[in-house]
Amino acid sequence: MVYFVRHALPGELVEITDVEYQKSFAFAEVAHVVEPHPGRIEPRCPVAVPKGCGGCALQHATDELQLALKSDIVKETFRRFAKYDREILVQRVEPRWHWRTRMQYHVDDEGRVGMRQWRGHDVIPLPPAGCAIAAPSAQPEAQPQGPRSVSAVGRQWQIPQGGFWQVHPQAPEILTSAVMDMLAPQTGEIAWDLYCGVGLFAGPLSDAGCDVYGTDGNKLAITSARRNVPSGHFEAGRIDLVAGRWPDPDVVVCDPPRSGLDRSIVKLLCARKPRAIAYVSCHPASLAGKVGRFEEAGYELVEVLAYDLFPQTPHVECVAHLRLR
Ligand SMILES: C[S@@+](CC[C@H](N)C(=O)[O-])C[C@H]1O[C@@H](n2cnc3c(N)ncnc32)[C@H](O)[C@@H]1O
Repeated sequence: MVYFVRHALPGELVEITDVEYQKSFAFAEVAHVVEPHPGRIEPRCPVAVPKGCGGCALQHATDELQLALKSDIVKETFRRFAKYDREILVQRVEPRWHWRTRMQYHVDDEGRVGMRQWRGHDVIPLPPAGCAIAAPSAQPEAQPQGPRSVSAVGRQWQIPQGGFWQVHPQAPEILTSAVMDMLAPQTGEIAWDLYCGVGLFAGPLSDAGCDVYGTDGNKLAITSARRNVPSGHFEAGRIDLVAGRWPDPDVVVCDPPRSGLDRSIVKLLCARKPRAIAYVSCHPASLAGKVGRFEEAGYELVEVLAYDLFPQTPHVECVAHLRLR
């Protein structure tokens, strides 16, 4: 049986506890490390430990080891689900501490502010120094309510309360640069930005001379997108229905939530045949699982870029370039 052992590192010999059996595998937690990995370190945060906060599940690994582990996972994911058998190196991103610009805190029965335990409901109170990955602006006492304004990629962005904005401060520059390199948009081309949020990718596409169409399910985000990128055509609603009414795209960027692109949207894109698609995802498996469908419709997976936009956690951001053959 395969055991997914949280807080263990590859090759270690560990004693486990809290085993939860599923049908053909089990979850478990490290109770004691018998033979540690050479890249194991003491976590900086006292609650980044078994039975602690659910956030930083990799703080006990050096930065180099975190990047190596994530690179292996992304490579293996694309090899298995997309038959893409090439090296994918997850690129290091700074800062690696105090990077998270948005946090969701909970309060326990005694009024202490903290984070939820991994797969539990208990609130783990924050240590005295606060959360080690939260930006100063996202520590509990500083959390501003209401709309925000952020400066990035040469623009001022208005973000409504509850609207999405990339959490790592380097993410807007890194992701827009990757997307623009992949799409190489030309003046006069039609560009779609699906799941556009407040228009992060629509902005540079419009600056490159494209006629940009953007859609998102969040109406307030769309109101902000119209202000942030006045030349774009934005509409809130169901992505496939809204985009189904637009003119054929030359280039498309899509940045769906973790579950990935719905079948209906993949079908729509395959029918409308943009020359290039940049697919942004914080869930490599859901992205890789869609590649085959695009390939059947005549696309090739040119490149996958991966970035460590969530240091100390197991999460990773990928951008895939699909090109019409
Ligand atoms: C990962 S964010 C990307 C936003 C934007 N591209 C950015 O980088 O700032 C995903 C976006 O999908 C939107 N979204 C989530 N589920 C949706 C759905 N079922 N239909 C339409 N939009 C959805 C959210 O409102 C959010 O803006």
